[in-house]
Amino acid sequence: MTNATVHRHRTAMVRHTLSRPMSLAVRLGLVRSGVTVFDYGCGQGDDLRALGAAGVQAVGWDPYFAPEAPQHKAEIVNLGYVLNVIEDPAERIVALTGAWALATRILVVSVMIVGAVPVVGLRQFGDGYLTARSTFQKYFQQAELKAMLTQVTGVEPVALAPGIFALFRLPEDEQDFLLERRRGSRTSTSAYRADRPPRTAVSKPQLADRIGTAINAITGFALERGRLPHPDEVTPDVHDLLAAERVSFARAIEASRDAGIDAEMFARAVYERREDLLVHQALNILNRSRTATQLSTAMLRDIRQHFGSQQQFGEQALEYLHLLADPQRTVTAMQHASDGGLGAIDEDGRLVINRERVAKLEGMLRCYVGCALYLSGDIEQEHIVRLDPLRRRTTLFTLTSRREPFPKTKMSITIDLKRQDVVIRDDPRILVRKADVFGMARRSRQRSVEAEYCVAFGIRETKVLAKV
Ligand SMILES: C[S@@+](CC[C@H](N)C(=O)[O-])C[C@H]1O[C@@H](n2cnc3c(N)ncnc32)[C@H](O)[C@@H]1O
Repeated sequence: MTNATVHRHRTAMVRHTLSRPMSLAVRLGLVRSGVTVFDYGCGQGDDLRALGAAGVQAVGWDPYFAPEAPQHKAEIVNLGYVLNVIEDPAERIVALTGAWALATRILVVSVMIVGAVPVVGLRQFGDGYLTARSTFQKYFQQAELKAMLTQVTGVEPVALAPGIFALFRLPEDEQDFLLERRRGSRTSTSAYRADRPPRTAVSKPQLADRIGTAINAITGFALERGRLPHPDEVTPDVHDLLAAERVSFARAIEASRDAGIDAEMFARAVYERREDLLVHQALNILNRSRTATQLSTAMLRDIRQHFGSQQQFGEQALEYLHLLADPQRTVTAMQHASDGGLGAIDEDGRLVINRERVAKLEGMLRCYVGCALYLSGDIEQEHIVRLDPLRRRTTLFTLTSRREPFPKTKMSITIDLKRQDVVIRDDPRILVRKADVFGMARRSRQRSVEAEYCVAFGIRETKVLAKV
């Protein structure tokens, strides 16, 4: 690491709405009127203003913007995007320990994660990067952050989103939260606004305003492909605008990054593009496609960006296929998933899981679902998925309503990967072990309701989907 002055406070943005972690904490019901909040590393204090406007008692401290403010204990402490701007790993631990000590019930920690923003062209510094504005950014792996949080606090964190975890001091708080979240409860954040007086004097239009159309084009590309475009991947009118404004393409890329390519949406785009490419390649191999070797420049760039090389890409796709072809591996993976509360195994050894939770399955099983959805196309309605890797089939069931204590399926779409075929059926069944499929807590009320229904319908409890 070479010497450099890092201006940490320059990372603090002006916000008009809640930050992502604070907004998530409100929507998930952690932060609400009546609880006390302390914002550790509050930056310019916009979250505090927004919480105050909605009647939440919130104060904060920041070593640059509010160094004199006292550090208070509070029920909820937010450590929002602080750890990632600290270049010294030992100091990160000090900040985390300090924030945890103030939290009487819950600490919410958020950081930037790998893949959240493009790092091409940034200077490496320690375990992160130096930006053009002399700020430091460390991009964490989700597992790395989780391990750090566990090690420092001794508490297993609960992931709220990529790069955002909550640490609960009281196990019962965690249980209540998990149950509520799995039931899909959401609170609106519309009352939480950090409005500041409007600026009056506008001098010269900012770069972002002058080349707004170009920035939109670059951002749109980045969010679709999970990477930044090359000059030949944007339309000529973008180049015309940049030429008229005398702005280079590299500067426009920089401005797009500064304008804030939404980190979470970008990470999602990277993930989706990678999965799309792997599934695409896996199907190419399955079909022995002759065109698989003839790739467009854009696709080659995607592969290089997301897998390093074509060879590594091919190897990863093959690895997925080999894993899928190995019955023992898939059985183990499905058992592992259900043991971990992800879905339920039915009488015939198939995994039944809510569609929304498929993303949490391990890669091989996700690839399995991906192959199926590649063939069927995703379906709009809420549905559950049944994975049957032994017979090489995946079935999607649409439900009457998951809110019913005992939902029925309306129809099923079975995707036969061996035959590359999709069969749609009118297929009424009863979803018996709903709690397992949707991942409700062991002690949930839902389970006892299900048990009663099983007795009433004369269904053995071990069935997940029962024919009616
Ligand atoms: C990216 S900003 C985040 C501000 C705010 N939490 C938000 O989400 O808008 C990072 C903030 O961390 C503060 N900071 C830097 N070092 C810190 C430390 N050791 N402890 C607490 N805050 C720190 C900086 O002054 C800066 O305001």
